[in-house]
Formats: sequence, C-alpha cells, structure tokens
Amino acid sequence: MQIVGHTTQQEVYAASRQRPFRINELLLIEDKVHNYPLGEVVETQSFNRYIPLVTEHSDLVDRRVRENLAQLGYDIEADTIHLARIRILAELVSPVSVGIAVRVPAFKEIEDFLIPRDPDTGLVLGVIRGTEELTSGLPANLTNVALLYQKDKGVLPQRGIPYIMDHWTWPEYPHIGIFGGSGSGKSFALRVLLEEVMWQQLPALVLDPHFELSFTEAFPDLPPPYRGDFARRSTVLMAGRDVGILFEELNGADLLALLQAAGEVTENMNNAIQTLHHRRDSFTSFSNRLRDLTQGLEEEQDLKRRLREDAGGDPWEKREIERILALVAKYKDRVGHVSTLRAISRRLNRLHMERVFTSGIEPIQEAILNRRLVVVQGPIWFLQVLGAYVIRKFYRERRQYQDAEQTGEEAPKFPPFLVATDEAHNFAPRSPEIPAPARSILRTIAQEGRKYGVFLLLASQRPALLEDTITAQLNTKLIFRTIRSSDLDVIREETDLGPEEIRRLPYLGSGNAFVSSASVGRTIAVRIRVAKTVSPHSRHPFLELREDFIPPEEKLRKALLQCLPLGDFNFDVHLGALQQKLRRQISIEEITHCLEGMVIDGVIEKEEMLLGVEYRQRKD
Ligand SMILES: Nc1ncnc2c1ncn2[C@@H]1O[C@H](COP(=O)(O)OP(=O)(O)O)[C@@H](O)[C@H]1O
Ligand SMILES: [Mg+2]
Repeated sequence: MQIVGHTTQQEVYAASRQRPFRINELLLIEDKVHNYPLGEVVETQSFNRYIPLVTEHSDLVDRRVRENLAQLGYDIEADTIHLARIRILAELVSPVSVGIAVRVPAFKEIEDFLIPRDPDTGLVLGVIRGTEELTSGLPANLTNVALLYQKDKGVLPQRGIPYIMDHWTWPEYPHIGIFGGSGSGKSFALRVLLEEVMWQQLPALVLDPHFELSFTEAFPDLPPPYRGDFARRSTVLMAGRDVGILFEELNGADLLALLQAAGEVTENMNNAIQTLHHRRDSFTSFSNRLRDLTQGLEEEQDLKRRLREDAGGDPWEKREIERILALVAKYKDRVGHVSTLRAISRRLNRLHMERVFTSGIEPIQEAILNRRLVVVQGPIWFLQVLGAYVIRKFYRERRQYQDAEQTGEEAPKFPPFLVATDEAHNFAPRSPEIPAPARSILRTIAQEGRKYGVFLLLASQRPALLEDTITAQLNTKLIFRTIRSSDLDVIREETDLGPEEIRRLPYLGSGNAFVSSASVGRTIAVRIRVAKTVSPHSRHPFLELREDFIPPEEKLRKALLQCLPLGDFNFDVHLGALQQKLRRQISIEEITHCLEGMVIDGVIEKEEMLLGVEYRQRKD
C-alpha cells in the first residue's frame, strides 16, 4: 500500500495491488517528516480488467492520480488496483509525498489516539469500525468488553477496538445527542449508554414515555462475565402512582405549566390563575376558591337578594353568602368571565383525575441522592409537566448547593446528575408555538448546566424538531441512520460529519453510528455493543399474542382434545373437570359448538351412534 496522490494536506489517495481497503479503517502513513501520521479510509474502490480504471469514469480517481499510478509502476489497464481516499487525522504543515508506504498500524501505535480511558473509568459503548483487524493484538483489559449483536447470529465476540466515551471531559464538552430514524438503533444505544452511566454510578433522571427503559431483565444468551446487576442500580417509578406533584409545592408558573398540559390555556385563564393561586394553596383550597367564585359570579344578584332577606334567618347560610360575595368583590375585576374559571376548573379536574397531585417527588430525589438511575414512566403529557417540575427543582438545589459551597454557606447536599430522555423533541420542541413546560429548563441546562455538573442525554428521531439552542449545545452526537432531508440538514450543520459520511447516513445498518465529538475533534464510526439488559416488552408482538393472548376457544379446544372420545350424551361427566381446568363457567352448548368447529376444521371426527353423537380423534 502506498500514497498515490493528494488533494489537500488533509487528504491523500492510496493504492494497493493485494489488499482491498476497508471503509473507516485506520492506516499509518510511513512519513517520517510528518511523524508517521494516521489516516482514516473514507472512500474505497477497486479496479480490475473488468472494471478498468481508465475507461470507467470515477469520482475517486482524477488524471493526476492515474499518472502517478503509472509512474509508480501500476499497469492501470491490466492490474487489479485497490484505491482509497484517506483523511489524515493530524495537522500537517505540508502534503505527504507520493510513493510513501502505508500500512495497518499495530495496536500500540494507535492506543493513545483511540483509547482515552480504560474501560473501568469510561463508558464502553461499542467498537470502532474499521479496527477489526487489530482485535487479536488487544491487551486483555480491552478484549471482549464490548460484545456485539447481530439479529440472525445472536451475541458475538468483540471485533475491533472498544469505543470508550470519556465522560470525564463532560464539564468541558457537555451533553449528548442520539439521533437517527426509526429502527436505526437509538433506543438500543440509549440503553447501552444508561447501563454505562449506572456502572459509573452517575445519578440520572430518565423520562421514559415509551415504558421501555427498565433494566431488570438480562439480554438473552449473554456469557456470565459480561452480565451486570442493573436492577440494584436503578429505580423505576410510575407517574401518578409512585410519583406526582404535591399541589402545595406549586408556584403560579408551575401550575400554569401543568394546566397547559391538560389543555389550551388562554391569556385570560393565565391571568385568572395567577390572581387566584396563593402560595401553599392545597388542591382543595384552590379548587374551592375557584368553585365559590364561579358560583358567586353566576348568582351574584340572587345572593345579594338573599342577603337582604337575611337568608331566611339562617346564620350559617348568611355567613356563607357573605364569604362568597366577599370573594366576588375581591376578584371580580381581575378574573374575567365565568367561562374562564370554568375552563380552568375542567383542566384542574382532569389533572386531579389522573392522580397528578396524589404524591410527591421524594422517591425521585432519594434515588438521585443515592446515585441511582431513576426512570420515571408515564404518558408523555404527564412526563412533560412532572419532568419540567422535577428538573427545575433539582437544578435549583444543585446550584444552591454548589454556590453555597463556594461562599461557605450551608445548603443541603445535592449531587451532579444527568437528565436523559427519548423523544426529546417532545420535551423541547423547536417551534415556540408548541407549549412545552420543560423547554426552558432544558435550554438553561444546555447552556450552563456543565458549570454545575448537570448534563443532558437526549435522543430523538427528529433533530430538525428539537429546540435549536439545545441541539447546538450537544457536544457529542451519535448519528444513526437518517433519511429525512430536513434532519440531514441539521446534522450537516450541527456536526463535523464530512460529505462522504453524510452520503452514507441513509444506508447505515441498525446499531451503527457516527460519533461526532467536540472533545475528540473528529468523527468516529462506531458499532454500538450489545445491551446487557432488554426492554420488558421487546418480544415480537405476534409471539406475545401466541403466548399471552390465547383465545378462550383455543383453550377449550385443547382441553376437549384430551377428553376424546366424547359423546354428547356424556358431556356432563367432563363438565366439572373442564370448568375447573379453565377456571370459568362453560355451557354444554359451548362444548358442542367447539367440537363442531373442530370437526369442520378437520381436527377431529364425529359419528352418529345409537345414543347420540360421538366425537373422536381422527384416524389418519
Ligand atoms: N447496537 C446494535 N446491535 C445490534 N442490533 C441493534 C443494535 N441497535 C439496534 N439494533 C437492532 O435494531 C432494532 C431497532 O433498534 P431501536 O434501538 O429500537 O431503534 P430506534 O429506537 O432507533 O427506533 C433493535 O430491535 C435491534 O434488533
Ligand atoms: Mg426507539
């Protein structure tokens, strides 16, 4: 292998007679002047007698390269020639000369370049593509730390150098984005990342609208040394059942965000909410105030008349009327129309019915303080509100703690933490018209979270729909297969992926990604490792049907087959046992129906006997 030309200082062509080049492979250029720079193959092509280089017009080969090849002794009409375009991974002061040899490096020669940390102190996410040939030269501590998976072949040994993300660089280069179309491997990668986060015991809050991020079930067929006990390091909580928002802790802005999640909130409604909500209000005190005021505004004249009549001498009723009229007097001019109050009540009741206010966020806080990964599951609208509330609160506490540390004041301890979510564009949509309670706090963290050790880990299949300030702040991006052109545009703008990588994006296989990272300063092609856990509902839906949703008729058929031969004259003999077995009432009629069905389907036979009909096993 040798250099046969260059375009710029950063890009060279190499040719070989024997060995085809592989995309993304790393090669060492034996150029002493430039201190043996490394290069990465970004494009390859092979030529031979049948695909001649001279006639076949190719983007890859220009006239100069052809001339160089000829000068270097290649017979471009007859030889098999493998060609590669190589991106040099170092800053060169002058171009590499033509004719210089190129070879596969030994692991030792690229170790510092590719391994930022050892696997115990970094996040082992997969293998670096194009380094497969170096597998056998790896030291023991880098071998089989990232097993791979292929759908038809199952779990496979590690091939290639492990890709280890150095999370210790996050304070400088914070936040991670995972982007890719549906089925490209985002959720799988998010799971792998979160496993590593747990392994490092980084406290993390995960919002899980898909109910898929629990870590109790091991990935099938993993060799024992590769497994890990993630159940012990994670907590899964259900919004509305295990966690919620205590009404007493809400301020006016929180309440507004919550009500917005339950339906559109007009400017009038907002004014009314801000006016009527008092600090430390309970759900009851607030909703009673709403109710009484609504009644007061509707029946003001009636109530006044009733008061003039001294409420028929009933002192209790009189006091009630006075109270309600006082409310009316106090708020009348500031809360708008009765219909506004009604609309607020409807939204409030919806939240109440969804059990938003029944519990607090203590379980989340406790998990974070114990350096666990806490997954909050629930419908997306609920998570948007709860997430916004919790993240804002935790971020405030973290800042207060850290600021107090610096000024020497006292504040409750609060650790650095991560916020992770799939479908991030729902939590922080780009379009300002879409209400999103969490958008502003996520934006704040994107911009300044690193100072406080608060980091984002956001996955989305629609980067074009994610708030753009946030996208711009994601210093590391894992880009999976992407087809949609609007998303490709964002990727082109917001990553350092080159044109050839962008060209390959629509064709990437599931689980393959380009990692564009400001801390590394270049793009790395990665295959994400096999996850150590699986989502509890990752069974094929039709397999699930077969296993968990056996129709009652099917069960009865099975049970009846075991009773054959069976006559319609002795059904009652079996009825008790059948009912017990299937744990339900069964009628004679149903049995007849089922047996007749099996006769029609050709599963069993029937014969008219003297006493009646007999059903029996088919003879053939
Ligand atoms: N790293 C990987 N290795 C092997 N197969 C993968 C990998 N990532 C994803 N896959 C395959 O692709 C499928 C879809 O991945 P998933 O993460 O659910 O996609 P997405 O979340 O992007 O829609 C998975 O069920 C799995 O079969
Ligand atoms: Mg997914």
